[in-house]
Amino acid sequence: MTLMVPRGASSLLIKQSKQKVNPMVNWLPTLKTTTPEEGYDLAVKLARVAVKLTQPDADARDRLRPEYAEDSGALIAVSQVVATHFATVAVANGYWQDRT
Ligand code: HEM
Repeated sequence: MTLMVPRGASSLLIKQSKQKVNPMVNWLPTLKTTTPEEGYDLAVKLARVAVKLTQPDADARDRLRPEYAEDSGALIAVSQVVATHFATVAVANGYWQDRT
């Protein structure tokens, strides 16, 4: 008996099995963190993810890194973005007031 496979179906299956798992799926399940320090780490992550989504080319980001790393204005801008995210994370965590 011949197994009937619709034309193109097998190559579709191969394509699907070769697809990489998207690391950006469910990357932000919660804004809740245990400590303010972890909240700050999350704020930095939020800022960096925006850069990564905006410029997906890692080589391009690598090229730009030395520039901003030596630019005080850019570093202040980075701090501002992180501060904005941290404000959001802090609210989401009730300012961690349940901690003693
Ligand atoms: C608000 C924006 C940003 C924040 C908060 C941020 C934060 C950081 C931090 C904390 C590091 C050090 C990581 C470590 O040494 O472990 C880093 C590294 C780096 N950043 Fe940024 N960055 C920002 C924007 C950018 C931009 C605009 C670019 C280039 C387009 C960039 C490219 C890189 C690269 C290539 C590295 C080194 C490799 C790595 O650790 O991933 N970043 N960034």
